[in-house]
Amino acid sequence: MKELFILAVVTFFSLLTYWLVEPFAHGQMHAHVDSKSFAYADLPALTKQGDATRGADTFMAGGCIGCHNVKALGMETGMSAKDAAAAYGVNPPDLSNAGAIYDAKFLADLIKNPAHAMSVEHKFDDMHPHPMPAFYGAGGEDIDQEIADMVAYMQSIAVKAEEVTPKMAFEDACGRCHAVRYTKWTQLGEMPNFKYKKDELRFQADVLDAQDAVKAYMGKLPPDLSMYIRSRNEHFLSTFIEDPQSHLHGTAMPRVGVTAHASEQVIEYMKMAGDPLAADRDEIGKNVMIYMIFFVLFAYLWKRQIWKDLH
Ligand code: HEC
Ligand code: HEC
Repeated sequence: MKELFILAVVTFFSLLTYWLVEPFAHGQMHAHVDSKSFAYADLPALTKQGDATRGADTFMAGGCIGCHNVKALGMETGMSAKDAAAAYGVNPPDLSNAGAIYDAKFLADLIKNPAHAMSVEHKFDDMHPHPMPAFYGAGGEDIDQEIADMVAYMQSIAVKAEEVTPKMAFEDACGRCHAVRYTKWTQLGEMPNFKYKKDELRFQADVLDAQDAVKAYMGKLPPDLSMYIRSRNEHFLSTFIEDPQSHLHGTAMPRVGVTAHASEQVIEYMKMAGDPLAADRDEIGKNVMIYMIFFVLFAYLWKRQIWKDLH
């Protein structure tokens, strides 16, 4: 009886610590940041109706494909990922699905002033300009109209917003800076399966060069994200993606301007990377439960059998 009472007291205090004290301590160490639903309310609303057909011409005239591939349309810069990383600090993302992954207001502001949209103005000035140049108009009367047209064009060539997959979202919005060892993702794209060790080593040497480039650009090497889903909860990741400055004031990591859906896809990718066996484990868990139930049943019957003989 006394043992039972002690057990109850210990259990009670353990649970109390778990539910109250731990989250409280955690809240003290990491400021709580509320989601703003990916509204990007600080960015100006689009005032012009974009025209995708006109936007196609402006996109060409605007020079976007000097730095960005649009592989879905067969447009390539002609520069390797490795050379692009050396030139710009990171390999600029393919824009095939940019219209679906990034918020429209964000895209418009990005084209006008990249450092502003990305919340990294503290890192750049006239002496050290952002590697993506601001667009100053392609000869039209109204720069806001030209930008709205380009955004409409990017939306028209992209998959539907709800068709953005974890892989697309992660590779476009995060993959130029962060490697994910567990999925073989590197700053230069997915590591191929090489037939010859020599080719693999060459690729790895190129990745090390690209990492040096991003390190020089960002001030430090962005961490490998294979395991982050285990150390940070989803709320943290979501609000961090929405606005990195809210958690790490002064950080070099840009706000990438993804939509709420694309952010969910990014987190989904991190879950798959950090825990690729989750589905298998659920299945095993079920089998273990069934096994336990039978085990307890047999143990009970066996015990009854033995005691029956003893009495
Ligand atoms: C242009 C490069 C760049 C891009 C793009 C980028 N990051 Fe980062 N990220 C960084 C850098 C640099 C750091 C280190 C920040 C620091 O310590 O100030 C970082 C840190 C992080 C961290 C660690 C935060 C912590 O508290 O330790 C996470 C998680 C992260 N990034 C996730 C993402 C995700 C998810 C995306 C895509 C939605 C992304 N990053 C896009 C550069 C980038
Ligand atoms: C001189 C090269 C250059 C040109 C020209 C250029 N960009 Fe970029 N762009 C970059 C670089 C470099 C990055 C990555 C910056 C970073 O991660 O800090 C980038 C990033 C982007 C992103 C990803 C933004 C994000 O938040 O993840 C989009 C979208 C984009 N550019 C669109 C465009 C469009 C549209 C044009 C044409 C109007 C254009 N770019 C012209 C170099 C360029």
